[in-house]
Amino acid sequence: MTSSIKPQTSLQRASTQKHVVAKVSDIPPGTRKLVEAGGRSLGIYHVNGQFYALRNVCPHQGAELCKGLTTALVVSPGPGQFDYEREGEIVRCPWHQWEFDIKTGCMIVDPSKRTMSYDVTVEKFDVTLEEDSVVVHM
Ligand code: FES
Repeated sequence: MTSSIKPQTSLQRASTQKHVVAKVSDIPPGTRKLVEAGGRSLGIYHVNGQFYALRNVCPHQGAELCKGLTTALVVSPGPGQFDYEREGEIVRCPWHQWEFDIKTGCMIVDPSKRTMSYDVTVEKFDVTLEEDSVVVHM
């Protein structure tokens, strides 16, 4: 009798946990809410009909990133000219003004620097008649 052990060909991904963090009405469009979930401080953003979750820690020196200004991306087509794009999709760290994309957690000028971002869903639970909930998957 022979036995075989299958080699693992890929790393097992850690399972995610759901954290109900707010009611939809707690985070009106264009705003954010700071929450605690899974032992972490997060900023939950409502941008153009979608919800995004960022870890509330700046990768530079650890400031509470999500307490920073939510703003637009400033672009310049040429000297003396500038425009605003992606209103409400950028957060500026309150300590040294580094800017991050709320949708990805990546720093605008150097995307290799980032804070964690998490998937967010809006869910209705069968056991309640309450409104939809915002759920972070960590
Ligand atoms: S701590 Fe955020 S930019 Fe320095």
